[in-house]
Amino acid sequence: MFGLRRARPTAATLVATAAAATALLASPTATAAPQPVVGGTATTTTAYPFMMQITDASGGQFCGGTLVAARKVVTAAHCMAGETTAGVRVVGGRTYLNGTDGTVSKVSGIWVDPEYTDATNGDDVAVLTLATSMPYTPAPYVSSSQTDVYAAGTTARILGWGTTSENGSSSNQLRTATVPVVSDAGCKSSYGSDFVRSDMVCAGYTSGGVDTCQGDSGGPLLVRGVLAGITSWGEGCAEAGYPGVYTRLATFSDLVRAQVAS
Ligand code: ARG
Repeated sequence: MFGLRRARPTAATLVATAAAATALLASPTATAAPQPVVGGTATTTTAYPFMMQITDASGGQFCGGTLVAARKVVTAAHCMAGETTAGVRVVGGRTYLNGTDGTVSKVSGIWVDPEYTDATNGDDVAVLTLATSMPYTPAPYVSSSQTDVYAAGTTARILGWGTTSENGSSSNQLRTATVPVVSDAGCKSSYGSDFVRSDMVCAGYTSGGVDTCQGDSGGPLLVRGVLAGITSWGEGCAEAGYPGVYTRLATFSDLVRAQVAS
């Protein structure tokens, strides 16, 4: 599924947000990105072997996922809305959307956080069990106590085949970029009550320009090579003052671990 477009903020919200954005501009991490996902550069699944395409039964990619064990993939709950095991495939080792290489696996189980309702309410995490093993190195993921990865200004890596501009088209080749983690206060000032501190973390430049976008959902936010977040939602893409919102994986680490062990 694509989508998750929020309504435009109201005028009152925009006034509050403009003030917050001005405050953020003064912060040391607010430098413009040196690069034009949105922004970023082309890469390969050889460089990021845990990076999975999540496709429909006809091979159409609609989300990303991260291999965390030979038969377990972490993705976003909102990616699995309305999906059944029969309708989903996971593709590893395939850099290009139109490729035929790599490994395709059917899905034998879909676990969605039972508290999930909507990405803007949090709990946006799911774990897929694969019918066949992926011959690729999985990514480590954060433990519940590893919250240092969310310190404001920490460099995080994003990856995906999603659109390269807000209303653009998907990228045939996997792309990646780095974005700074935004403080909880900064994220709150952008998104108000839609920002659920326990369940979400924001990343992006105050000036925008680099971000995940539609089709990147479910994919990884990596900090120092460790899976720390899941691409979840945002107001538009790469807009100034509206960073991307990611699932704060440390909060769900024990739940994920239980699924990986099951
Ligand atoms: N919900 C989108 C998806 O399903 C991801 C949006 C991310 N947006 C952002 N501005 N970072 O692919």
